[in-house]
Amino acid sequence: MISHATILTADVDKVFVIIFSITITLLLLVTSFVLYFVIRYNRKRHPNPVQVRETPVVEALFLGVPTIIVLWIFYLGMITYRQERTVPADAMVVNVFARQWSWMFQYDNGIQSDTLKLPVGRPAKMLLNSLDVIHGFFVPAFRIKEDVVPGKQNYVWFQPMTVGTYDIFCTQYCGLRHSYMYSTVEVLSVEEFNSWYAGRGAAPAGAPKAEAVAAIHPGLQVIRVKGCLACHSTDGSPLIGPTYKGLFGKKGIVITPEGEREAVVDEAFIWTKVIDPGRERVKGFPPIMPSFKGQLSDDEIEEIIEYLKGLK
Ligand code: CUA
Repeated sequence: MISHATILTADVDKVFVIIFSITITLLLLVTSFVLYFVIRYNRKRHPNPVQVRETPVVEALFLGVPTIIVLWIFYLGMITYRQERTVPADAMVVNVFARQWSWMFQYDNGIQSDTLKLPVGRPAKMLLNSLDVIHGFFVPAFRIKEDVVPGKQNYVWFQPMTVGTYDIFCTQYCGLRHSYMYSTVEVLSVEEFNSWYAGRGAAPAGAPKAEAVAAIHPGLQVIRVKGCLACHSTDGSPLIGPTYKGLFGKKGIVITPEGEREAVVDEAFIWTKVIDPGRERVKGFPPIMPSFKGQLSDDEIEEIIEYLKGLK
């Protein structure tokens, strides 16, 4: 027996297969008739065209059969769509935040994660929030796609049925690094999920073990979850923004409203870049950094600074 990723995957696939089969049948039918008529009624065989009288039976079939097929397709789509839009009352709610160019998932107990972790078998409702432009939340294996629109909270729900890891993509072109805006859904067994949920990262199977998790600098943890790595690397490779490697203490030219000046990356500089990034920008980089005011606590900014100090 095939195991399905979610409880509705098979229903969506059924509608797709039915519509696809009808399309293929019609294509073959129409093409065969065209070929047949081209040969049977070509000019050599029929130099003088004959006027054809209307035949009510054929016309009734022409109207009736497609109407029935189209209504049947509508019905199939409608019942599946209704299931997809009707969220079970016991669904667990996860807040999804999309921004250029990363995903963040926030749970009821305050946990924030850059991957979506869910227990198998339980319905889950995603509240979709955009912090900047239009993004698209797409989990191909779950047959789920919904726009994430600034100023409007959309939702999707699904009930994962098979433990595993599935891709999440962004499906709206949302800027330079749109194609890097992906993440994963990790469907865990209920026990694994509960221990992760209670212990915030008590290493589910396949993930780094406890000591490896502990070895991650809390500042790096913040950087990962808040999506900074969408624009900044930690290994020196150039992205949209300056790499974090060796950044602390570095000197460079910044462009201010008053003109250019030399600046050094110190604690005050990082605070300014996080809270009010538009005020001064580093020469050579596009002015696209969003403000993280209200998104990062003072402690989190301090942790980031500590991390950057150690990243030589
Ligand atoms: Cu977000 Cu494309």
